[in-house]
Amino acid sequence: MIARKKPEDLRSHRWLGTADMRSFGHRSRLRQIGYDAEDWTGKPVIGIINTWSEINPCHAHLRSRADNVKRGVLQAGGFPIELPAMSLSETFVKPSTMMYRNMLAMETEELLRSHPLDGAVLMGGCDKTTPGLIMGAISMGLPAIYIPAGPMLRGNWKGNFLGSGSDVWKYWTEKRAGNISEDEWSEIENGIARSFGTCMVMGTAATMMAITEALGMALPGASSIPAADSNHPRMCGVAGRRIVEMVWEDLTPDKILTPAAFDNAIKVHMAMGGSTNAIIHVVAMARRAGIPVDMEKFDQLSRQIPVLANVRPSGKYLMEDFFYAGGLRAMMQNLREKLDLDCMTVTGKTIGENIEGAHVHLPDVIHSLNDPIYAEGATAVLKGNLAPNGCVIKPAAADPRFLKHRGKAIAFEDYNHMMQEIERDDLDVTPDHILVLKNAGPKGGPGMPEWGMLPIPKRLLGQGVRDMIRISDGRMSGTSYGACILHVAPESFVGGPLNFVQTGDEIEIDVDKRSIHLHVSDAELARRKAAWKQPTPKYQRGYGAMFSEHIGQADQGCDFDFLQGKAPMPEPEIH
Ligand code: FES
Repeated sequence: MIARKKPEDLRSHRWLGTADMRSFGHRSRLRQIGYDAEDWTGKPVIGIINTWSEINPCHAHLRSRADNVKRGVLQAGGFPIELPAMSLSETFVKPSTMMYRNMLAMETEELLRSHPLDGAVLMGGCDKTTPGLIMGAISMGLPAIYIPAGPMLRGNWKGNFLGSGSDVWKYWTEKRAGNISEDEWSEIENGIARSFGTCMVMGTAATMMAITEALGMALPGASSIPAADSNHPRMCGVAGRRIVEMVWEDLTPDKILTPAAFDNAIKVHMAMGGSTNAIIHVVAMARRAGIPVDMEKFDQLSRQIPVLANVRPSGKYLMEDFFYAGGLRAMMQNLREKLDLDCMTVTGKTIGENIEGAHVHLPDVIHSLNDPIYAEGATAVLKGNLAPNGCVIKPAAADPRFLKHRGKAIAFEDYNHMMQEIERDDLDVTPDHILVLKNAGPKGGPGMPEWGMLPIPKRLLGQGVRDMIRISDGRMSGTSYGACILHVAPESFVGGPLNFVQTGDEIEIDVDKRSIHLHVSDAELARRKAAWKQPTPKYQRGYGAMFSEHIGQADQGCDFDFLQGKAPMPEPEIH
């Protein structure tokens, strides 16, 4: 029997339930808005943290979805209050939404802390919004339930399904090679994004929504529902009803987010063929929860878990198909023997109970452990003298011939240098060369932009080359693909070995052995380093300066140093 809270135990009671002058002020100002005592008396106040904005197409529906949540909260006897938070539209926010993930995490935490709230509904989905919301909610510690925005419908061009990002890169490359006309390119622009909702390939958004469900922080099946499907508003209503109960049960994130829950989430990530970005976010979320998850953990679990979801960019289908195939619950059923089924979730039930009865309806979309689409997991972590603290590659999305390769580097000092060189008709490059991009890391970008899928040099495009090894300290979009080695740590901007690679140096990759080696002697590397001067940060004031000073490296989750950990935070004083 779960001990239930009493109305006077509610956190909001401090603001609304006492007889002092301040609570008079709080109540009178609620009356000013039009609320009455019946709205709040003895009721959990539920903060709906909504990342809707007019310039975020992935969240265009969240304004009306908040009404579905409110209906559920009211039905269950709660008092819903919607609070807008930074939207982080992946498409529009520059230089990179990664600059602002921690800002959203801070905003979420402080919105929850500073207001009279008892529980939280977190509404997001576009890439960094999910980890930002969850990191903030973990640090605050109120009962919280996450509502994934859900993927948009499949794109369509001449009867072919189009995937966000993945098909943009693909057809842009064909356009650069002269195989796509301006008119066709314009048709693709009209057909690739047909509804609200997140990218509908297994990009960072779909990966993080699934990971959050696998962690136990969303309703079962919620992450797979297409944004435009009527199941989506109904799911929002259920979440609204459920959060009120979670408050009475005091079901806080620390009761859900255990080491086993993170293992489950990483296994689901691997089986989904998920985005490399998820590594950074999961490490950051786990560290907020006081759970030591590192890149080694990803590599270790990657070797145990095959890819089951046949979804682009590693596979063939799109998230809409994944939903019709049974969604995440069905995939977790197929993964059942690898998961810890006893982990608690927002439903008050275990993961095992939540996936009971789920079935795969389309076995070519969701494969089984006996018949995976790729034998090992989505992400391999490489280490060596070029990346002492690690870097990542997505083997399933790369040309297999590059998984063991030695080649000469072509080094670019930064993005602009790379873009100038890559279009040169006389660039001295072969398909066996290795492209190296520096200064794309957390401090160097800054904000670790998604530049890691470097364009194939123009000179090779005409020869039909579509993949080659590319190494950087940046990230790549979860919708991207190719033999891209990312997140090199430490990054070049802080003097990591990547900074000292020169054109003509040889680099050797062996994904089976998880190694990456720069064939330059230690003495020569030391000589190059001695001649190097630490560059000054790009931003001298404002958020950018704070970001540059406090951001951590990729292998540590890129959280701010002062946001990590579980040091107790006092409740605000009400005077
Ligand atoms: Fe929002 Fe891809 S742009 S999820």
